[in-house]
Amino acid sequence: MCGIVGYTGFEAAAPRLLDGLEKLAYRGYDSAGIALHERGGLVTARAVGKLGELIGLTRGGSIYRGTCGIGHTRWATHGAPAARNAHPHLSQDGGVAVVHNGIIENYRILKAELEAEGAVFSSETDSEVIPFLIAKYLKQTGEPEEAIRRATARLVGAYALGILFSEYPGRIYAVRYQSPLVAAHCEGCSLIASDVPALLEYTRQVIYPAEGEVVCLTPDAMTVTNADGKAVRHLPHTVEWDSAAARKDGYSSFMEKEIREVPRAMEQTIRSLTDGEGRCTDLGGGIDPARLRETEELCFLGCGSAYHVGVAAQYCAEKLLGIPVRTEPASEFRYRRVPLAKNCLAVAVSQSGETADTLAAVRESRRRGIYVLGVVNVVGSAIARETDAVLYTRAGPEIAVATTKAYCAQLCAVYLLIAAILRAKGNEEEARRLERAVAALPECAAAVVGRAEKIMTLASSLSGARDAFFIGRGADYAACMEGSLKLKEITYSHAEAYAAGELKHGTISLIEEGVPVVAVLTQPHILAKTLSGAEEVRARGARVIAIAGEGVALPEDFADRDVISVPVPDPDVSPAVSTVAMQLLALGVCRARALDPDQPRNLAKSVTVE
Ligand code: G6P
Repeated sequence: MCGIVGYTGFEAAAPRLLDGLEKLAYRGYDSAGIALHERGGLVTARAVGKLGELIGLTRGGSIYRGTCGIGHTRWATHGAPAARNAHPHLSQDGGVAVVHNGIIENYRILKAELEAEGAVFSSETDSEVIPFLIAKYLKQTGEPEEAIRRATARLVGAYALGILFSEYPGRIYAVRYQSPLVAAHCEGCSLIASDVPALLEYTRQVIYPAEGEVVCLTPDAMTVTNADGKAVRHLPHTVEWDSAAARKDGYSSFMEKEIREVPRAMEQTIRSLTDGEGRCTDLGGGIDPARLRETEELCFLGCGSAYHVGVAAQYCAEKLLGIPVRTEPASEFRYRRVPLAKNCLAVAVSQSGETADTLAAVRESRRRGIYVLGVVNVVGSAIARETDAVLYTRAGPEIAVATTKAYCAQLCAVYLLIAAILRAKGNEEEARRLERAVAALPECAAAVVGRAEKIMTLASSLSGARDAFFIGRGADYAACMEGSLKLKEITYSHAEAYAAGELKHGTISLIEEGVPVVAVLTQPHILAKTLSGAEEVRARGARVIAIAGEGVALPEDFADRDVISVPVPDPDVSPAVSTVAMQLLALGVCRARALDPDQPRNLAKSVTVE
């Protein structure tokens, strides 16, 4: 989703802004722009397409001298990707420049009101009303912070804003509501960004402004005021990631690098949630075992792959815990009245910790008095702050839009959560069994990663396929959901996950000669059933690719080249391994089609709007 950066210091701002935008490019965007204090006024440069266009237009920023500016990558919501809709937007008098991440829901009303007062807009965006409103209130109050407060009080929706005033050179103002924003002050400069990777070259000490606080940044200081205009002190958070973690390191894509980092992401996550003996009693201090003991129902919430983590966890949790477990896409949950037990533990899974629907589901659950645990990768993010307790995954920064290593780390965290509940409820034996299975996952995943080239070569033979199906039962079906999503996301193929037993009830009509069907086969107790589903599609001409647990006996006439065997420490946790094979399959198809896996069309890494 849209990315925001801001720099005020003593060096030329434009190249720094462009560099910061590159670091946020992973969020997904279709146009970009910057605004600077320049020769006593504000100038903007905006371009459609990849950042290279904006870099070319501004010759890498070299045509500007200004030392204070803001920048933006836009993921179109209101109005097509076009230069006139790209940010920054200026007020009519050119005195206020704004970059915005989020959606202003009441922009039509505000636009009509401003137009009645003589305003003439030049874009179709919801965002353009913001500089107009701020300029209007600046005229009335003569005070920038007060103008920002009055303008934002009129906005309904979500926003993170970076603001420049032509009358206040060297100053950036920033404010947020629901959308993410980090700010930092370091030696010789102050900065804002939507996410920490844009700041890591400068500092690892950042603050996360609260909703409604106004941040004022100058080269020498950063001040924060609350809604009443009173000064607020923030102690900086130390970011653990370093800037090297956000580089490709010679790999062809971030996605490939991140799949290869799966074993490490798992290992670090497991280590931080367990003690020296591999026990996850209080999950590294993340949660009180007494709270776990009382749990009489579990509800996993998330979007996209994080939702699939919940689906996989559900199979494991309902089998081992014997309590009701449900998994809901956060976007649905927030508008439903899902009945939940009083002692339900809601688990909100989110890599970014800023997905708008997941955050809303967290708020809704808490409003209803449900205890919410976050499983989050980004320290200090909104979901981490707003949940009752947090289990951090330690996957490091994930740059590729389609998640890989964070998904696997999230699975480790939720399996350990299930083990901790088992122990809290007195089932030590099962808790230990599950902990041992989780402890074995990094090595199993490493074995799959070790076969990356073989898997990607197999995948290249599928590159002509328009459709693909993924079938499995139980936990394998959960893994299929994620495997098919990966293929859709980065190859633009039509892919569907099917519970193998459901095939006959419709989807089998789509099977024709050569259609690839990926059959995931790691669940011994239902293997024969999935295999007969695979046979049925083979008989109708499908090309079956088997992702089979090591030691699984396949029919003799299965083509060897189409079998990927994966080591599985325990069927209950197998999605953490089988999915890695499917991530590599998707990457292989993507590579064979010469597509960019890191920034697939139309997708955004952090979906911060509904
Ligand atoms: C986007 C990403 C997905 C991700 C989902 C949830 O759609 O492209 O890869 O699974 O958001 O993101 P979260 O940060 O909440 O895990």
